[in-house]
Amino acid sequence: MTLWRIKADVEATFAGDSERKAHVYGVLATALQLARIHKIDKRKAAMAALLHDMTKHCSQEVHKRMIVRHYKEEVLNEYAPPLYHAFSAAVFAYERYGIDDQDLLRSIESHTIGREAMTPLEKIVFISDYIEPNRPYEACKRVRKIAFENLDKAVYQAMDNSIRLFEEEGGFIPDAAYKAREYYQERGKANG
Ligand SMILES: [Fe+2]
Ligand SMILES: [Fe+2]
Repeated sequence: MTLWRIKADVEATFAGDSERKAHVYGVLATALQLARIHKIDKRKAAMAALLHDMTKHCSQEVHKRMIVRHYKEEVLNEYAPPLYHAFSAAVFAYERYGIDDQDLLRSIESHTIGREAMTPLEKIVFISDYIEPNRPYEACKRVRKIAFENLDKAVYQAMDNSIRLFEEEGGFIPDAAYKAREYYQERGKANG
């Protein structure tokens, strides 16, 4: 039943933002495709996809209040404010629906910049957010192609593209993003 409650909340939350709603359903469709191909729990993939941006519209104050209820305060310094919504969405999932599956919560939490040693569920949510059909940028086309064949390579490519873009824009890039990219670069070398 939780899935239906989440869907109803997505509809209500993004009633006035058709672009964001289309993005969320794009992530859902992509995550389900990837889950089928890579043999990952489809229900969990659907829940994480629907929930990943649920707090996107909240103010910085709301994000902060939610985050400090469940994470160390350092999270606020280690991650840039545009990334707070990933943590607050995980808090929302736990507090509103009682979701306590750590893999599911983690996949919401790491959807923006990823992290080292992600689980298969985390990888597909991370990649789906990057390649869903409404994403307009050219760079994700290559990731789209490889995501169905090799998750780790797709993760690396998405991380590398994002970091380069943030660097060009002069934005704050958390250490965790560089560490994660290095991890998947090494994995790519190890696996040829
Ligand atoms: Fe997001
Ligand atoms: Fe998203």
